[in-house]
Formats: sequence, C-alpha cells, structure tokens
Amino acid sequence: MLSLILSLRRVKKEANRILFLPFLSKFSFKINIATTEVHLLPYSLMENNVSGIVYLVGAGPGDPELITVKALRLIRSCKVLVHDALIPKEILEEANAECEIFYVGKRAGCKSFLQSEINSLLLKLSNEGKDIVRLKGGDPFVFSRGGEEVSFLEDNGISFEIVPGITSGIAASSYFGIPLTHRNGASSVTFVTGHETLEKKEKSVNWKQLATTSDSLVIYMGIRNIEFIANELLDGGMNNKTKCAVVQEATLKNQKTLMTDLSNLARIITKNKIRPPAIVIIGKIVDFKVNNNITKLSQVNLQN
Ligand SMILES: C[S@@+](CC[C@H](N)C(=O)[O-])C[C@H]1O[C@@H](n2cnc3c(N)ncnc32)[C@H](O)[C@@H]1O
Repeated sequence: MLSLILSLRRVKKEANRILFLPFLSKFSFKINIATTEVHLLPYSLMENNVSGIVYLVGAGPGDPELITVKALRLIRSCKVLVHDALIPKEILEEANAECEIFYVGKRAGCKSFLQSEINSLLLKLSNEGKDIVRLKGGDPFVFSRGGEEVSFLEDNGISFEIVPGITSGIAASSYFGIPLTHRNGASSVTFVTGHETLEKKEKSVNWKQLATTSDSLVIYMGIRNIEFIANELLDGGMNNKTKCAVVQEATLKNQKTLMTDLSNLARIITKNKIRPPAIVIIGKIVDFKVNNNITKLSQVNLQN
C-alpha cells in the first residue's frame, strides 16, 4: 500500500513536471492495485456529456465482432450516425430506433459525397446539439481522411473524441495467418496506399525506394493499380520471387485469399477477378505465413 501511495505521488509529480498542469485536479487516477499500475486518465473529457460532440469512431474491418466495446457503446447511444461505405449492417443495426442515420460513403466508380459536404453535415448536426457518431471502416486515422475531419471540427470549435478501430491491413494479415513482423527477419512493415497513379502530379509514394527500404508492404487500395506497383517494385530492385498475399473482403464471409510471387502478382489478381476492398501484402512476412490457420469468420450477432 505504501509503495502504491508513493508511486501515485511520483506520477502526480511527474505529470506536474512534464505537463505543468495547473488543472491536474481535473484528472482522475485509476489504480490497478494488483499490478500497482497507475493510469492518468482525462475522465473530465471522456465522460462529460458535451452537447454536439462528434465521436470519430473506427468500425473495424468488417467482422462485426472486431468492433471495440467503446465503439459499440457509442453507436448504441448516439442520436445521429454518419457512416462511410464498408460498415457491416450488423453494426449499423446496433443504433437505437430513434437514431438518425446518414450514409456518406465514397466508393470508387460510384457517386460519392464531397469531403466538404460531409464537413458541412457534421457542423450542422453538431450545431443542433446532437451527439454524433462519425463511423468509418477500419481505423479512422488510416487512409480515411479522419485527420482532415478532426482538423475541420477543431477549426470550428466542435468537441470531438477519436475512437480507434482495427485497420483492415492488420486484420487481413491476421485472418490469413501472416504475422506483420517476425523476429527472424521481418523487422519493418509499411502501410501504403496504392491509389496513386502515374498521372498524379505530386506523388508521395516512391515505390522504387520502398522496394529496398521496408521488409514488407501492406498495400491498401492497390488492386486497380497493381500492375504499375509491381513494375515499380521490380524496377526498384525487389526480387521477382518475393512472396505476395492478397486478401479480398478480409474478415467477411466472402473473404477470398491467394498467394503468388511478385512476377505473377498482377496476372493472378486479374485471373482470379480480385476486386476491392482488398489488401495486398508483399515481402518477407508472407514467408512466415502459418498454414491451415485461416481465422474462422463470425456468424454471430453482437451480444448485449
Ligand atoms: C479508404 S481505405 C479505408 C481504410 C480503413 N480506414 C482501414 O483502416 O482499414 C479503403 C481500403 O481499405 C482496404 N479495406 C477496407 N476494408 C477491407 C476489408 N474488409 N478487406 C480488405 N481490404 C479492406 C481496401 O484496400 C480498401 O480499398
């Protein structure tokens, strides 16, 4: 008990020193007596009922059971739900009967909402004093424009909270039995968008460089561009025998997986009619794939 009190004092002192927090009293300390771990939690921000708050929430990759408990609680209690494409219907069905639901999804090739229209909608709903769940597939800060949305909210003085979700790049590799890193030779992994084309003036992805600087690549939105990507990686010096895995609709009941090598990647994707949403994994980690261990997909409804 004495050491607990001492460590609590140390944490308070440290918080004062680092954060110089005159408002430290607003923070509550949660103490796990078994491990004497002390967590500093901004409860004052977390549980206040702020009118017009926007919760930017990750819904996970598709399997409804991969949503977080926190996300589920917010979805069940919110007044408004504004959601993207690729949100499983089982999760949307968790909203209460009075909840207003807006679909603002953007899918390649279909009519889509402009980011400015989504921002305006969030602003309007927040000004009406409603608590809003802004639900995005996977994680809201991974290739999801979550950063743009929270900047907009911040600029407009709207309160928000960010609730992370399991991103599809992680879920796809897990459900196919591929560890994202491995002590025996795969120490770095890069999450990268494959959406950029040759025509884009200011490209931020340098595939040739990635061919040699990262042990493995997890490519989002890369299916339509895969021939270009594979050629760039080969030009950059990646071995044409480098193993590749593709996971379409990861964690969903139509999940489709395949393995090939870099020289055949584009051809095999076309031959197998792989289409978005899909994740392409290239590099050393694919060598460490475990066999016969595709995670079973959930057939269950979410439980109370
Ligand atoms: C706009 S990004 C959104 C990514 C999302 N924020 C995340 O963290 O997973 C859409 C891309 O994510 C990937 N994706 C999303 N859900 C997926 C799934 N269930 N299976 C495979 N890929 C998925 C695909 O590459 C898709 O084109």
